[in-house]
Amino acid sequence: MAPEVAGFREHVMEGLSKIATLPELSDIVQRHRFHGTTHDKAVAAQWLARRLGSAPDSSRLLLTGGTQNILMILFSRLVPKGSVIAAEKLTYAAIGQLAMLTGVSVLPIEIDSDGMRADSLEEACMSQKVAVVYINPTDHNPTTSVMSVERRQSIAEVARKHGLAIVEDDVHGFISKHAPPPIATIAPEHTWYIMTVSKCLGIGLRAAYLVAPSAETLIEVAASIPSVSAWFVPGLSAALITNLIETGAADEIARSISAEIGSRQEIAQEVLGPSGGMHTNGSSLHVWLDLPHAWAIEDFVDAAAQAGVILRHPNVFAIPGFSIKSNIRLSLIAPATHSDLREGLLRIARVLQSRM
Ligand SMILES: Cc1ncc(COP(=O)(O)O)c(C=O)c1O
Repeated sequence: MAPEVAGFREHVMEGLSKIATLPELSDIVQRHRFHGTTHDKAVAAQWLARRLGSAPDSSRLLLTGGTQNILMILFSRLVPKGSVIAAEKLTYAAIGQLAMLTGVSVLPIEIDSDGMRADSLEEACMSQKVAVVYINPTDHNPTTSVMSVERRQSIAEVARKHGLAIVEDDVHGFISKHAPPPIATIAPEHTWYIMTVSKCLGIGLRAAYLVAPSAETLIEVAASIPSVSAWFVPGLSAALITNLIETGAADEIARSISAEIGSRQEIAQEVLGPSGGMHTNGSSLHVWLDLPHAWAIEDFVDAAAQAGVILRHPNVFAIPGFSIKSNIRLSLIAPATHSDLREGLLRIARVLQSRM
């Protein structure tokens, strides 16, 4: 989740007050906004151009109720029976659960410090019917890796060669300080590009943008499910987000969030950096830690809890059937203040040192 930053509250209050005076307020609350108004899409297209290089045609663009809604629809619609999804073997915790809900299998693809390995993806395509590759190339969750442009090109090449749909989750695109252009700029004809506002504005808005490879592919996916409101964008959220983008507040908030993450990353570097084994790119909302061999994950999670620091078991980030044995993700945002964060990290450092 995003940290609260200075100015956030005022911008949101101003936006909501403006919306409250609109003549169409009751429509916003009492009617579906479907996948956004023409105006929402025009504003979004210009905003997304910052990541995509140019504004996508609005016939390729939808506003929806968040990344997970889109993934559920795409997994259901793009993966025929007998085909599978490929994903980084460590991935966003929701992927395994969404695959289970939609009845598709996920094939784990090897990763290295550059993210998903193209050779491993290619091998998977040779041995199985892979229809979709889900990928989070920028500030990968959980390892924090940032995929190089060269690797993005190699992944795009594999997708072209094997006719794969790429589902690119650019969740950190607007808050990363060093995000290379998305794969969607290299292989737009294959890529379903997703940009949520969960990290750059707020997860409670439940909204994300989807840019499809073409107007035709989008119609193919959406036309047969026009009444499935689960992926419609919440009207109030869409109205607020469009307002925040138009006034420039969205950019200001995203910049402040990015700066706040930077300060928290500096604290992590100062406290945990010297002992080694901390993976970070300086822009992620968390760090990824190598645990010394002396620690079993369960023991470490228990010892941290006894020291007053709650950690998630890292297996939530593993593709089903694969388990993580020597890493822990530490959220830098969960502690409310910098001093809470420093204290929590110091406690973690002490727990680590107790078995060096
Ligand atoms: C990799 C990744 N994608 C997407 C999201 C956000 O999903 P949503 O847009 O459904 O809130 C998150 C964050 O929680 C995430 O870590």
